Amino acid sequence: MTTNQKTLLDNSGRSNIDGDSKGNKKKILDPPTIESVAQLIKTGKAKRIIVMAGAGISTAAGIPDFRTPGTGLYDNLQKYNLPYPEAIFDMTYFKENPEPFFSLAKELFPGNFMPTLTHYFLTLLYRKNILLRCFTQNIDTLERLAGLPDEMIVEAHGSFAKSKCLKCKKFADAAWMKEVVNKGEVPICTSCRVGIVKPCITFFGEAMPSKFFLRLGDFQVCDLLIVIGTSLQVQPFASLVDSVGEKVPRLLINLEKVGDIELSDMGFDFEGRHQNYMRDAFYKGTCDEGVRKLAELCGFKDELLKVYEEGQESLIKEFGKIPTSVEIATKVEKKIKAELELTVDEIDQLAKIFEEKIKIKSEISEEVDQMLKEFDELKEKKSKDKELLKEKGNENKSNDKDDKDDKELLNVKEDITKSDKKEEEKGEKEELKDTNFVMI
Ligand code: OAD
Repeated sequence: MTTNQKTLLDNSGRSNIDGDSKGNKKKILDPPTIESVAQLIKTGKAKRIIVMAGAGISTAAGIPDFRTPGTGLYDNLQKYNLPYPEAIFDMTYFKENPEPFFSLAKELFPGNFMPTLTHYFLTLLYRKNILLRCFTQNIDTLERLAGLPDEMIVEAHGSFAKSKCLKCKKFADAAWMKEVVNKGEVPICTSCRVGIVKPCITFFGEAMPSKFFLRLGDFQVCDLLIVIGTSLQVQPFASLVDSVGEKVPRLLINLEKVGDIELSDMGFDFEGRHQNYMRDAFYKGTCDEGVRKLAELCGFKDELLKVYEEGQESLIKEFGKIPTSVEIATKVEKKIKAELELTVDEIDQLAKIFEEKIKIKSEISEEVDQMLKEFDELKEKKSKDKELLKEKGNENKSNDKDDKDDKELLNVKEDITKSDKKEEEKGEKEELKDTNFVMI
């Protein structure tokens, strides 16, 4: 297991859910069960829910997970003669030996996969306006297919939806990619004719997608964390569990207990022995059973079943049959194109916030303040002069002086703009430093 000791975010433990004090242990979930979690949702106390998902939410769709002994993907890769199972998603290995990955991609690519009840549960939380974000490790894009909009999803390990040349970085056509992969060949870029075209899945040793970092702030405002269908063995994703505040309740829905603090220095404290607050609950069962139970306890089970049935019906109607993953990819590609515009906006917005923050903190901001002060002083002087000149009735002199002052004002403004630009560049550099996390 590769769990990090370090959390990605320093958090302040912000939550509007207070625990009562019994002895030394404050109980946020009393008792620490799925029932107590449901109560928080039902009473409107949990309304910024983050869901962290893994392969377990898609096994009911027919896609194997990775680590379940026997059925998991990593137990069934013998035919590829890998040095170790994870090598199939290892960048260094892939560059030398892309064939095993593409044999596997062939098996995964043309599958007929429909979203599960759990995927529709996410959609329902979104429609109820209580889903803050879904962070998924899955590359199957089923969250999107269940109707969750792009801005609600962080595909932490990328997805099959897009493919890119490793050499010239050009995106490949989804239909072409499918054709080549289906033939069992390694796709070589039609543009530069040398680079291998790789689906945009985050391999071990590769940087996480920028969206992952852009959305990390969600964990500081989250008021309920639901972790579902994951072994929490891959970093940095797994450490996000510890990125919510210490008072934020956390529910694990999984076939097995994972991420237990008893076994490492971080994670869930189901027994309430290590953390200040009793706030972790475990529901042992399948993801679909878990969300059905949760929906039932919250009083919206029928709504969930309706969303599920209608969702499946509309997909079959739209595609005339259960869609293949390439049809899903094409649909998703369209959505992503729309999202790119959004992302640029988001980046702009973030840059502004960043710039603002740095302005307040940095030394240069003092310079800017000084300039602004001078600017105000000049303005004041100018208006006083104007008054004086008016009194003297000297129009010509006034015009000359206005011109001179205007120039001075312009110079000061220019200086301020330059200084702001410096700030922006500094902000971008800081952000790039942050995105150096790679998947391990
Ligand atoms: P794993 O296979 O590691 O873990 C799946 C977890 O889900 C296990 O704990 C199972 O017991 C549980 N599980 C399986 N089916 C379930 C079901 N129907 N209901 C409830 N629980 C179920 O999968 P992930 O944690 O998602 O990387 O794996 C993380 C990453 O490791 C993946 O994203 C993948 C892999 O290397 C890439 O694809 C790049």
